[in-house]
Amino acid sequence: MYNIAVIKGDGIGPEIVDASLNVLDKAGEKYGMDFNYTEVLAGGRAIDETGSPLPQETIDICKDSDSVLLGAMGGPKWDNLPGDKRPEAGLLGIRKALGLYANLRPAILFEELKEASPLKEEIIGDGLDVLVMRELTGGIYFGDKGRNDEPAAWDTMKYTKPEVERIARRAFESAMKRDKKVTSVDKANVLEVSRFWREIVKEIAKEYPEVELDELYVDNAAMQLVINPQQFDVILTGNLFGDILSDEASMITGSIGMLPSASMGEGNFGMFEPIHGSAPDIAGQDKANPIATILSVAMMLRYALDEEEAADAIEKAVRKVLKEGYRTVDIASEGTKVIGTKEMGQRIADALE
Ligand SMILES: NC(=O)c1ccc[n+]([C@@H]2O[C@H](COP(=O)([O-])OP(=O)(O)OC[C@H]3O[C@@H](n4cnc5c(N)ncnc54)[C@H](O)[C@@H]3O)[C@@H](O)[C@H]2O)c1
Repeated sequence: MYNIAVIKGDGIGPEIVDASLNVLDKAGEKYGMDFNYTEVLAGGRAIDETGSPLPQETIDICKDSDSVLLGAMGGPKWDNLPGDKRPEAGLLGIRKALGLYANLRPAILFEELKEASPLKEEIIGDGLDVLVMRELTGGIYFGDKGRNDEPAAWDTMKYTKPEVERIARRAFESAMKRDKKVTSVDKANVLEVSRFWREIVKEIAKEYPEVELDELYVDNAAMQLVINPQQFDVILTGNLFGDILSDEASMITGSIGMLPSASMGEGNFGMFEPIHGSAPDIAGQDKANPIATILSVAMMLRYALDEEEAADAIEKAVRKVLKEGYRTVDIASEGTKVIGTKEMGQRIADALE
């Protein structure tokens, strides 16, 4: 029996989470797991119902759970609120409150969706599998910020040694299970924080002699991702650069609706969510692609609950349904069959049989 805290969130959040829980329940039946879901509020709906984007009750219930599943937060309705009252404050706040310092974003190009990538076939080669390991609770998003009468505004980028050490270790640990290469991305030609980052990453690298370490400036990394993405295995980077590069990496795979993520704290505790936002433009229309969230559930089974077999089965079920030619509208191409969110979720659940 696993206790899962569920934050459906805003926009397409409830639709994609419902489709995913359907798949998770099916996996539970097949692999002898029971799930006890507790729905909690964060983001825009939490603002509407409680006045806060992150009620304390949500933090408490998440902390008491085995794992957390999140849809997405935010939307135009709350865009004019001040920064600390906006849904995004709920997202940053929950990552911080749960100590989720490592964001794992696999950018995998499924064979069946090769044609969806904006890159040329000779660049993609035989597919793509990059893991972006982004530091999540430090750096410029959390440093001192403010405005004065000058008028001027500032945000401060700061990293402590333990913060860099633990994310670097996660990156090297992950690389050990993959192709044994870490590319650390920074801006060490300009930023002191980046020079500090490099020194520490080099130290940690000594603990993993089998893993090759490469270092790139972020501007070069952004270029390399589109001209030679095959060179990457694990990309290790800070909060700001990771935010941008992981979105770029996701785009070369073709659809933002396909990509899951894990935000991990100490040990196996983590929060699992699609990388995309709440897509208010298609909310409530049964058009959203639930696969990113379904694959997030697979990551939860693998990284948080140690249910590797069930995780593999879900990923296989996704491939099977794609192979059969079913697509949500965002990944549709000529000759494929367009279906809605619910049907996609149901077909993947059925494919688990
Ligand atoms: N983790 C999060 O909760 C998160 C992340 C990013 C953005 N947001 C919030 O989401 C809101 C919308 O942001 P945005 O428009 O910049 O980004 P978005 O990811 O919500 O949408 C970008 C585009 O991708 C499409 N898209 C996204 N997910 C899809 C899916 N599963 N299936 C099909 N199409 C999909 C959308 O329709 C839209 O055209 C904002 O309020 C933003 O702050 C939340």
